[in-house]
Amino acid sequence: MNRDIKDIKEQIMHRGAEVNKALRNFVDSFKGTMPASLLDAIWYPLNAGGKRLRPVLCLEAAQLAGGNIDKAMPAAIAIELVHTYSLVHDDLPCMDDDDLRRGQPTVHVKFGEAMAVLVGDALLTMAFESISASGIPDSAKSKVALELAQAAGPAGMIAGQVLDLEGESVHGGTLDDVIDIHLHKTAKLMMGAVRMGVLAAEGDDSLLKALTNWGRDAGLAFQIADDVLDETSTSAELGKSVGKDKEENKLTAVAVLGVEGARTHAAKMAEQAKAYLSGISGTGFFTGVTELFINRSS
Ligand code: IPE
Ligand code: IPE
Ligand code: MG
Ligand code: MG
Ligand code: MG
Repeated sequence: MNRDIKDIKEQIMHRGAEVNKALRNFVDSFKGTMPASLLDAIWYPLNAGGKRLRPVLCLEAAQLAGGNIDKAMPAAIAIELVHTYSLVHDDLPCMDDDDLRRGQPTVHVKFGEAMAVLVGDALLTMAFESISASGIPDSAKSKVALELAQAAGPAGMIAGQVLDLEGESVHGGTLDDVIDIHLHKTAKLMMGAVRMGVLAAEGDDSLLKALTNWGRDAGLAFQIADDVLDETSTSAELGKSVGKDKEENKLTAVAVLGVEGARTHAAKMAEQAKAYLSGISGTGFFTGVTELFINRSS
């Protein structure tokens, strides 16, 4: 049975607060080892109030796999560091050219473009340090790191960002083209988040497969909803600019299907995602999050 969306949001906030503490401790552990200006610039986007969906998914997956939340935390932090880096670079003038993120001026607006590139580089590198230096069992550590590398790398999120940029000059793009972009730029990190959780907990293969499939379709639903919000929401509500996809001629679900068609497709993806969890006990959080992904206002 689906849990109430309000409950799910509360659970995310509760777990998200634990993630925030762990992130603060991790970043603080670098104090004195780097220029203070760099530490400030690294902390700035991390402290700006992201929803922390990916780290929470990672922790919930670890728990579902029978693991311990504290042990999985370095993996959860790692996925949020990578996600935040992807946003810092996504907003750069040479990419989406955005000046608002998580309700604040983007890193390049606040600290300059060169620093924003370097903050992204640092966040990505720190993610792998978080995993390597963690207490995740040795038998699982390299699998968790490999998972993150593949989700974020040139066959994962980076591929999606390239396809997204190339999509700006595509005329007559199809839904399949859009899904290919969304799968790589967004769903891969969602899949990576849950897979890292299961792997850190040394969970079983059938759960790994089910959550992988869930992450793919739920991730697609999430990005379609992002495309809809870009068209229908306000920057005050989202904490980032709106209307840019159309302005930049992005190949999005809304461009191909229209707002209503995109909403319908997101709902279909969400149903498909939930179907992978039927028969697995204890997946109420994941079914609830799937609903949240398509019914969210930010
Ligand atoms: C934004 O992700 C980037 C997309 C994949 C659409 P989120 O909506 O999870 O952003 P934060 O982490 O809450 O800022
Ligand atoms: C970005 O997609 C996905 C990333 C890998 C960062 P978008 O460009 O649509 O994300 P927003 O709308 O800027 O958050
Ligand atoms: Mg983008
Ligand atoms: Mg963007
Ligand atoms: Mg967007």
